[in-house]
Amino acid sequence: MKSLVVYYSRTNITKKLAETIAGKTDADIEELIPKVNYNGKIGYARGGKDAISSKVIDLEDLKYDPADYDMVYLGCPVWASRPATPLYSYLKINEGKFKNVKFFITAGSSGFEGTEKHMQEASIKPQKVLNLTTKEVKKDLFEDKLASFLE
Ligand SMILES: Cc1cc2nc3c(=O)[nH]c(=O)nc-3n(C[C@H](O)[C@H](O)[C@H](O)COP(=O)(O)O)c2cc1C
Repeated sequence: MKSLVVYYSRTNITKKLAETIAGKTDADIEELIPKVNYNGKIGYARGGKDAISSKVIDLEDLKYDPADYDMVYLGCPVWASRPATPLYSYLKINEGKFKNVKFFITAGSSGFEGTEKHMQEASIKPQKVLNLTTKEVKKDLFEDKLASFLE
């Protein structure tokens, strides 16, 4: 099965998970680079505002077409109980192209449900969803959850 891992990560938490998933599934990997600056305090505030308003922003050129893959793993951090704007934008830009998807989501503590709901509305129903806190990812406390997510 041909798999693609697509993710956005502002502070490398989701990135760590994305790279682990890609390694275990032998998938191609696409990191989303927003053309909007979400760094620093101003970027944090902009991120929250853009996520709440379901804003679609421009992304740097993509390497892969999700339509070429049997399974696409879609990952992002929670921003204000919504998917981070770069990943949400990717879903809207590629609407109708996904055959099978699984979501992996990271958050400080909460907002997983709202994030999953908005990701599903912008793509398709996921086969599985992996929700992990920042702490679980940092401390490598995700082996069992990841194994069942990848089954
Ligand atoms: C703009 C913004 C909004 C956030 N909103 C939430 C939130 O609603 N709930 C939560 O638990 N964490 C929230 N966080 C924290 C991130 O989801 C969390 O730190 C995540 O693991 C970061 O992943 P990353 O390093 O891949 O960007 C927010 C972070 C940012 C930048």
